[in-house]
Amino acid sequence: MSPSNALRRDDSTLGAAVARQQPVPQSFEVRRLSGPVGAEIIGLDLSHELTPADFARVHKAHLDHHLLIFRDQRITPQQHIDFSRRFGPLMIHVLHQFHLANHPEILIVSNIVEDGKPVGLGDAGKYWHSDISYKELPSLGSLLHAQELPSEGGDTLFADMHLAYDTLPAALLKAIEGKRAVHSYLAQYGQLQKEGNWRPNLSAQQIAQVQEVVHPVVRTHPENGRRALFVSEGFTTRIVDIPEDESRALLAELFAHSIRAEHIYRHRWQPHDLVFWDNRSLIHLAGGTPDQLRRKLYRTTIEGDTPR
Ligand code: SIN
Repeated sequence: MSPSNALRRDDSTLGAAVARQQPVPQSFEVRRLSGPVGAEIIGLDLSHELTPADFARVHKAHLDHHLLIFRDQRITPQQHIDFSRRFGPLMIHVLHQFHLANHPEILIVSNIVEDGKPVGLGDAGKYWHSDISYKELPSLGSLLHAQELPSEGGDTLFADMHLAYDTLPAALLKAIEGKRAVHSYLAQYGQLQKEGNWRPNLSAQQIAQVQEVVHPVVRTHPENGRRALFVSEGFTTRIVDIPEDESRALLAELFAHSIRAEHIYRHRWQPHDLVFWDNRSLIHLAGGTPDQLRRKLYRTTIEGDTPR
């Protein structure tokens, strides 16, 4: 074989390898749920990289519906991370005790105890919250992938904070005009330690990573332009510049209004579901799992921008 022929053969082999790596368009359906938020994505396989057009369709659906359920995703932790990263940088949870081995971008959410040790954070989401709202740059969205599901219970509830804002009674709207509130990772930490055995004592280094922050009580979504309430019982401790008792009463009213039944979607998990929600639009709650039943999910969390 002449050197030039050898070169040509190498070129075409390389070309075929490159062609194989190109993302291929997929045929999939976006099926809106009947409730206030959410759509199912049927027929999309996230173990393959999405084409720019398919990605744009998923992105738009996420903005339109605030929560997407990708059914039947047989993906590896790395594929979960790779897909999440297309939306922005990933956040590393302060509880390094519950990171997935070799994948610190994944927080294990689980009630399973093996050899006397919890495999994940067993009480994650016990209070309504928006993920990582206690940081200067809270989360854009989170992706939770079902690994092991209980035969009963284990649902996750989501409340639409755009709808909550849009339906605020006039007096409440006036009371929160221009107000800001403190968010703290430690808001319920002590209480959670009393209620169960999941929460380790935090090291000085961990506490330094979760200093409290102040955010507007109402934020404008940077991509859909809609206003949303941005407080939750999980992480919001007080409204600044008003007396403590007024702050407590106002927050109690806002929390109760946010989670009115008509604002809520209850997700009943199916095997291999991957649920991707928008933390700028929704708050969520783990509905609870009977102690004797095993539940394990993997969570990635995408960093967002400064709430305004
Ligand atoms: C979470 O708050 O991220 C966990 C929700 C759940 O376990 O249902």
